[in-house]
Amino acid sequence: LNTVPEAVEAIRRGEVIIVVDAEDRENEGDFVCAAEKATPEVVNFMLSGRGQLCVSILPDVCKRLELQPIVANNDAPLKTAFMTPVDIRTARTGITAREKSETILRMTADSASASEFVRPGHVYPLLAKQGGVLRRAGHTEAAVDLARMAGLKPAGVVCEVLDETGDRATRDGLAAIARQRNLKIISIEQLISHRRVSEKLI
Ligand code: 5RP
Ligand code: CA
Ligand code: ZN
Repeated sequence: LNTVPEAVEAIRRGEVIIVVDAEDRENEGDFVCAAEKATPEVVNFMLSGRGQLCVSILPDVCKRLELQPIVANNDAPLKTAFMTPVDIRTARTGITAREKSETILRMTADSASASEFVRPGHVYPLLAKQGGVLRRAGHTEAAVDLARMAGLKPAGVVCEVLDETGDRATRDGLAAIARQRNLKIISIEQLISHRRVSEKLI
């Protein structure tokens, strides 16, 4: 694994990294980038993970864009906070990497308003807990924390990485992908420890 500062630097440069969660949680690796760096090329790369592309945002953005929880009672085991999926109104279908990039970039613009998006769409917002990985040890919060730590807008894009059989990629498989594609790879546990130390919480 890389160090957290190496990962943060990569996020700042607009690179995609791999973030793994705890083995006793999802035990998944997601491609992660900062939302404001989600160009069509970056989104196209992230879609090669073949998981569900989602954008992690904080409560103030959800409120401004009038995004409601996708269901009234979230009984998913890890309470992953899916909100109304949207497309930017100018999109033709919303599914392409270019249109998803346009949707994500606009969603995270400070001046964006609810009426600029149609619903339902193809970009899945996830509502991150304020407080990040110290509140919830999920990819949703890790993506927001990494973008914020990189000095970028606190919003990120995530997509799980599957292997060629369609199963979730193993730790070894993810390490191999990181090597082959020259991506940084860190764990959410590392991010939690790093924040605790650097914010003098221990
Ligand atoms: C959305 C998911 C992913 O696991 C994503 O990583 C966000 O979930 P979490 O914050 O629970 O890790 O299910 O495709
Ligand atoms: Ca998942
Ligand atoms: Zn996850």
